[in-house]
Amino acid sequence: MASRTAAQWQQPPAVPDTHYVSGNVYSDPQIFAEERDKIFGRTWTIAAHESELPNPFDFRTYDYANTPLVIVRGGDGRVRTFINACSHRGAKLVNEPGGNAKTFTCFYHFWSYNSEGACVGIPKSEAYDQVGLDPSKCGLREVRTEVRLGLVFVNLDDAAPGLDSFLSGALDTFQSVMGTGELEVFHFQRSVIRANWKAWVETNMDAYHTIMHVVLRKTQVDSTRVITTYPGGHLSTDGVKASYTNYKGWGDRSQAMALPGSAPDDLRVGNLFPNSAILIRGTVMRIDVLSPISPHETAVESRGIGIKGDSDANRLTRIKHHNQYWGPFSRNWPEDAYAAEACEKTFSTGAAKYQIIAREENMRGQDDGMMRVFYAEWSRRMGRPAHNPLNR
Ligand code: FES
Ligand SMILES: [Fe+2]
Repeated sequence: MASRTAAQWQQPPAVPDTHYVSGNVYSDPQIFAEERDKIFGRTWTIAAHESELPNPFDFRTYDYANTPLVIVRGGDGRVRTFINACSHRGAKLVNEPGGNAKTFTCFYHFWSYNSEGACVGIPKSEAYDQVGLDPSKCGLREVRTEVRLGLVFVNLDDAAPGLDSFLSGALDTFQSVMGTGELEVFHFQRSVIRANWKAWVETNMDAYHTIMHVVLRKTQVDSTRVITTYPGGHLSTDGVKASYTNYKGWGDRSQAMALPGSAPDDLRVGNLFPNSAILIRGTVMRIDVLSPISPHETAVESRGIGIKGDSDANRLTRIKHHNQYWGPFSRNWPEDAYAAEACEKTFSTGAAKYQIIAREENMRGQDDGMMRVFYAEWSRRMGRPAHNPLNR
């Protein structure tokens, strides 16, 4: 056992290249700019849950990797997404988090658009006659949108492979939970953490850090986690059971409260590359979506989801189950934020150089394989190896 000199500290860990990551992936501005283009600009991502847009003309806005979007359910019932920018002089068109509107009228010069993105109103339009400006060519920029299992997916790239090809079956394991009855978002939390987006992704893939969360230490006593990988960097884990009676006040998990296809003590997780996670704890579900703002800042959008049509009493119980584990003052979510921000403090300054993701347990238990799968896909899309992305 020995401490290391400055020169030794610069050396990569003595493990295979696939089993460590350079700190540059978190902090380098050029890498961040490329991620926006090569990853966020080309992959499908969850922009909303369908239950947030139950009625015709309901809309939600979402700033996705610094691209403002507006997601609308049209009069025909179809969900569409548009770049939230006015065709006239580019102002952000919709500036509310959500609502219901048959038309969107820009505050600046009152150009207006319908729920299908067509430009339907231009004040004093006769002044454009001389140049022949055609309103039918002034519609909003539509973004590809698909709904699967209630999740509204969008893709900024018109040429990207379709959603089913992208998912490669990664959602199949959630069919019984999410595809049996109607589910509903009952909790929405948007938090900006001071950390690179990948540091939060890692909290949803790092099974080893169970040790950090006191509730997990006590309740997740017999972890037989099985990790399944899918093409494209997606993952799911199954086989973990929680013993809630081991933590005071958490024992009220009855089968009657279980989500479809679940037992109340189930813990299942799905990670969709690059930025989404589906977390199921028997009676309640959480969906995380990350939106990078800068190399050092990330918006984490977390949704709590339960059964639509729950009795008031069951909804209250479900909210309790959600909030004690995943709410803003819970025993999990803030602890993960602390961990992500703690890594940011060292990687952003260059104080730390590498992280080690070398645990091998045959994709069981606390294997680091989930992070290795993520970084393999990250490296492939970026054309830069995560262990040495700046080729130094
Ligand atoms: S910028 Fe929207 S109407 Fe002018
Ligand atoms: Fe965690």
